[in-house]
Amino acid sequence: MCGIVGYIGPRSAREVLLTGLEKLEYRGYDSAGLATLHNHTLECVRSKGKLENLRRKLAPESEPARVGIGHTRWATHGKPEEHNAHPHLDAPERLAVVQNGIIENYLELRRQLQERGCQFRSDTDTEVIPHLVSSYLEQTRDHPHPLLEAVRLVVNQLQGAFALAILCADYPEELVVVRQHAPLCIGFGPGEVFCASDTPALVPYTRQVLTLENGELARLTPNGVELYTFAGEPLTRSPHHLNWNPVLVEKQGFRHFMIKEIYEQPGVVRSCLQAYAPDLGPGPIHLGLPDDWYQDLEQVQILGCGTSWHASLVGKYLLEQLAGVPTLVHYASEFRYAPPPLSPNTLTVGVTQSGETADTLGALDLERQRRSNCAPAYRARLLGVTNRPESTLGHLVPQLIDTLGGIEIGVAATKTFIGQLMAFYLLALDLGQRRGTLAPERLATILHGLQQLPAAIELILEGQEHYIATLAHRFADTQDFIFLGRGINYPIALEGALKLKEISYIHAEGYPAGEMKHGPIALLDAKVPVVAIANPGMVYEKVLSNALEAKARDAQLIGVTPLGSQGIGEVFDHILPIPPVEEVISPLVTVIPLQLLAYHIAALRGLDVDQPRNLAKSVTVE
Ligand code: F6R
Repeated sequence: MCGIVGYIGPRSAREVLLTGLEKLEYRGYDSAGLATLHNHTLECVRSKGKLENLRRKLAPESEPARVGIGHTRWATHGKPEEHNAHPHLDAPERLAVVQNGIIENYLELRRQLQERGCQFRSDTDTEVIPHLVSSYLEQTRDHPHPLLEAVRLVVNQLQGAFALAILCADYPEELVVVRQHAPLCIGFGPGEVFCASDTPALVPYTRQVLTLENGELARLTPNGVELYTFAGEPLTRSPHHLNWNPVLVEKQGFRHFMIKEIYEQPGVVRSCLQAYAPDLGPGPIHLGLPDDWYQDLEQVQILGCGTSWHASLVGKYLLEQLAGVPTLVHYASEFRYAPPPLSPNTLTVGVTQSGETADTLGALDLERQRRSNCAPAYRARLLGVTNRPESTLGHLVPQLIDTLGGIEIGVAATKTFIGQLMAFYLLALDLGQRRGTLAPERLATILHGLQQLPAAIELILEGQEHYIATLAHRFADTQDFIFLGRGINYPIALEGALKLKEISYIHAEGYPAGEMKHGPIALLDAKVPVVAIANPGMVYEKVLSNALEAKARDAQLIGVTPLGSQGIGEVFDHILPIPPVEEVISPLVTVIPLQLLAYHIAALRGLDVDQPRNLAKSVTVE
């Protein structure tokens, strides 16, 4: 994860870098640092904690530097202390490196460098890079581009996933950048060039963007970019114009991005319906997938992490129950090292809001590779579900469903989860219709229900937020929560628990309600509130019974349930009411009060809701 930025051109490099880092802080905020060049002298300033600490530490510049690199860190190797903050320097302090990723063979490289007398000042994997580049610069002096060549020689020795930006006081007219399985894009302005881990850092200055591919490095000068492979072969590629909606990266009067993004959810549902199911006529879903992907389909396997994994569990329910396709959901991180035997006629779906999660990309790539020389029935059919079609995922898979939510800034996923759910509803309905497992009337009913959803979500947001904010006071000091759901709402119990723990730091567990009695019920007493998702349908009475089992152990019961159901007031101590909706579409509404509850508890506890401790928005390391 981590965010890297670089700039060369006529502006104040420091200003450009700080602006860029601010936009990339969602990627990590354990420390931040800048290296700039002032008359052939490298100036490096680093600080533990958020970017504001770095800003405070910067002394005024007598004259602005015109070239520099910057970094915001999510700690992997080495504690989040200043000495581990990037940029890292070589021994003479003439060369600075920022890295996003992990250098897997750093221990071996570090040992070799130490044997040659090199002194290390940090515990990071990154620090081997400036020392190595510096040592190669001795050999590459006669090369037309000594810095580029030294970096090229070094990256060929590195194992792992990484993106780099490198600045050297001896070559003040250039920056060298590298991409290997970690994102890096380059932006172009008149007489200036920018680079960054993600496009939000570039859009204040330019929309002309070129994305580096894996195994590429580039030499940036104010006049443009020279692109090369790791083998040193020159490449030519033109930048593209980036479409961008600046409104998405402003809080617009909301206290936090998270609450703003919760409020954007009705819009995400509307956008998905408008784009993929604009009318209710015959053949109403248009996902643009190749027809032959649907032929003989025997299995779907879904790969994801965290909240995306929860959305995938809802997807499994829908694909099996509506489309009759056996579906497996894997944690991408587990799939990579223990994939199941190859199955024929299988659709593989990678779900990742950022499109950059290393485990999900790694699992998809594994699937692509291991199916590449197979008989036709076993060939890969790889589909990505993402909010960022321009991401690495977009380059890896041949087909995407864009969940159309726009960039999400709050680290806790909310609107992107709703978008992922919408993608699965549309896919399951499309498949169900084509496979004949879904009668046209049933399809129309579900689509009609989906069309009512934006209004239903708005009703919860407008009608319940104040009540939930008040209720949050009662639970702000609670230490443990249990979330229960069954059937299609079991993944929502998992998601409710994850939202609460990641932003409020309260321990929370999600369980399938029927499993409580097989062990976890021992945890319950009057201090452990239980949130039960009870939407009328196949498992409604079962969930109520499971909730009552908890109540019999003195647990306070909070029900996510429609008002007006008989006897509900006697079961639950508190109700988070939802509008009545059919069970099959209920996850799209039951998750909303749980997001609001987590948000208000965390905000009341005075926590950093948008940037919770230890987390980052985009997990680009294994
Ligand atoms: C939780 C959250 C994470 C992500 C996970 C996968 O709110 O955001 O659990 O869901 O890191 O991220 P993506 O979807 O970008 O692959």
